[in-house]
Amino acid sequence: MHKKSILLIAGLSFAALGTAHAADLRTQAISATCLSCHGPNGKSGGAIPSLAGLEKGYFVQAMKDFKSGARPASIMKKHAAGYTDAEFEAMGAYFASLK
Ligand code: HEC
Repeated sequence: MHKKSILLIAGLSFAALGTAHAADLRTQAISATCLSCHGPNGKSGGAIPSLAGLEKGYFVQAMKDFKSGARPASIMKKHAAGYTDAEFEAMGAYFASLK
């Protein structure tokens, strides 16, 4: 199996473990695609910033700025491009809830 798929599956199972959180399954599934870079459960051990516990307003603004290009990014413009503002809000609430 391709390494990326393994990481994605690992991310999805981490998200599944988090079903106690309020986020709906779809939000958890799209958020899981972020975890291969941002770390299991949104906690990064490396150079890429953690998403867990980010303030929701900050997260939403960051995603909008990546999407518009207002905030320079190596990779996040591509990841932000596929989502709507409503999805940024839902993901923001989810990541803010992760401790
Ligand atoms: C391929 C690796 C990768 C993936 C997948 C990825 N990111 Fe990122 N993310 C980065 C990098 C690298 C940065 C630093 C900015 C840059 O260079 O693009 C970043 C930065 C961010 C930041 C800014 C954090 C801060 O503290 O300012 C947010 C928010 C973010 N990503 C959210 C997401 C979300 C939500 C997803 C899934 C939809 C996602 N990322 C998927 C690599 C990734």
